[in-house]
Amino acid sequence: MADLSEIDLEFVQLGGTGIQTSELQFGTWRFGKETEEGNVEIGEQRAHQLLDAYAEAGGRYIDTADVYGGGESERWIGDWLADRDRERYTIASKIFWQIRDGDPNSRGTNRKNIRNRIDALLDRLGTDYVDVLYIHRWDDQTDARELMKTLDGLVEDGKVHYLGASTLRPDAWKVARANEIARSEGWEPFSVLQPRYNLVDREIEGDYLKMARHEDLAVCPWSPLGQGFLTGKYDREDGLTGESRVAESSRFADAYLTEENFDVHDELDAVADEVDASPAQVALAWLVHRDGVTAPIVGARTVEQLEENLAAATIDLSDEQVDRLTQSKGGPYAHL
Ligand SMILES: NC(=O)c1ccc[n+]([C@@H]2O[C@H](COP(=O)([O-])OP(=O)(O)OC[C@H]3O[C@@H](n4cnc5c(N)ncnc54)[C@H](OP(=O)(O)O)[C@@H]3O)[C@@H](O)[C@H]2O)c1
Repeated sequence: MADLSEIDLEFVQLGGTGIQTSELQFGTWRFGKETEEGNVEIGEQRAHQLLDAYAEAGGRYIDTADVYGGGESERWIGDWLADRDRERYTIASKIFWQIRDGDPNSRGTNRKNIRNRIDALLDRLGTDYVDVLYIHRWDDQTDARELMKTLDGLVEDGKVHYLGASTLRPDAWKVARANEIARSEGWEPFSVLQPRYNLVDREIEGDYLKMARHEDLAVCPWSPLGQGFLTGKYDREDGLTGESRVAESSRFADAYLTEENFDVHDELDAVADEVDASPAQVALAWLVHRDGVTAPIVGARTVEQLEENLAAATIDLSDEQVDRLTQSKGGPYAHL
């Protein structure tokens, strides 16, 4: 297993902002999350062990959302941060999904919902500000002017430093338009994007990444390992061969366990053999090497998985290997 203290994650510029992010960010979606069987996927103790491991490897960028684990993710991060120098960490959270049954205003990015939720979120994290606040999804019921003015108010109040937009494929143009409005009014624009992107999910390789480059936006991909598909534990014939909380979920199987994706995995295995690394490490290294990507958000259910994944930062791929992996998916998205 990797020696965490030897990994020493580097800092990279967070798009057009003035701050830097760790080259691998850490995602906490699974903290306090209940499985279909009613078990908690990652409990508090494990959550703190994972954060310890990430910090030991030099990691300083933690991604959460106010709905993760019904607020437990933020609360556990806050408890963990209380014993540390908060200033050394960059914390990103998100607002969007409905939090009260029967209350449509508790969903989306209307002014009432955002202003109501930001203080609760900061309280759980035990901090006066988040470094990045994402809209978790675009809300077609809130006008872009209302959204950008409300978000700018949070920046003015010092509760938020930078603004992010999560997912938004295929509607990348909405971010560009919102940024135009913000700039023309002297308000804070979006600086960071968080799309799904990995070797087998390549939808953003068109207008979305072009827009990101044009706007100088950071791109921080989620599900960089295709929720575990790109780790070598799924077999073309036998399905899952290792441990996973997704086990036989039909949604996961339909999305990932396809012939086309296993063909991509064959190339991943070949490159992994060449560089003496695991498929998960090469899948992450491909993203790190990919033009237009700022820093993937690494997820893990166990400390062992996290150690394996963070060691991806030490892997060097040749241009030829990056190209082969890029081309393995084929189709219209192979070139940026
Ligand atoms: N903005 C959004 O809408 C959005 C959506 C999703 C995620 N995110 C963010 O992105 C982060 C990462 O997303 P993700 O969890 O989907 O990432 P991922 O890296 O694609 O999947 C992580 C999962 O894969 C499995 N895994 C990871 N490393 C492994 C290894 N070395 N060996 C074997 N299995 C391994 C684990 O699940 P099992 O062991 O259970 O198989 C782990 O929970 C989240 O925590 C969250 O912060 C954001």
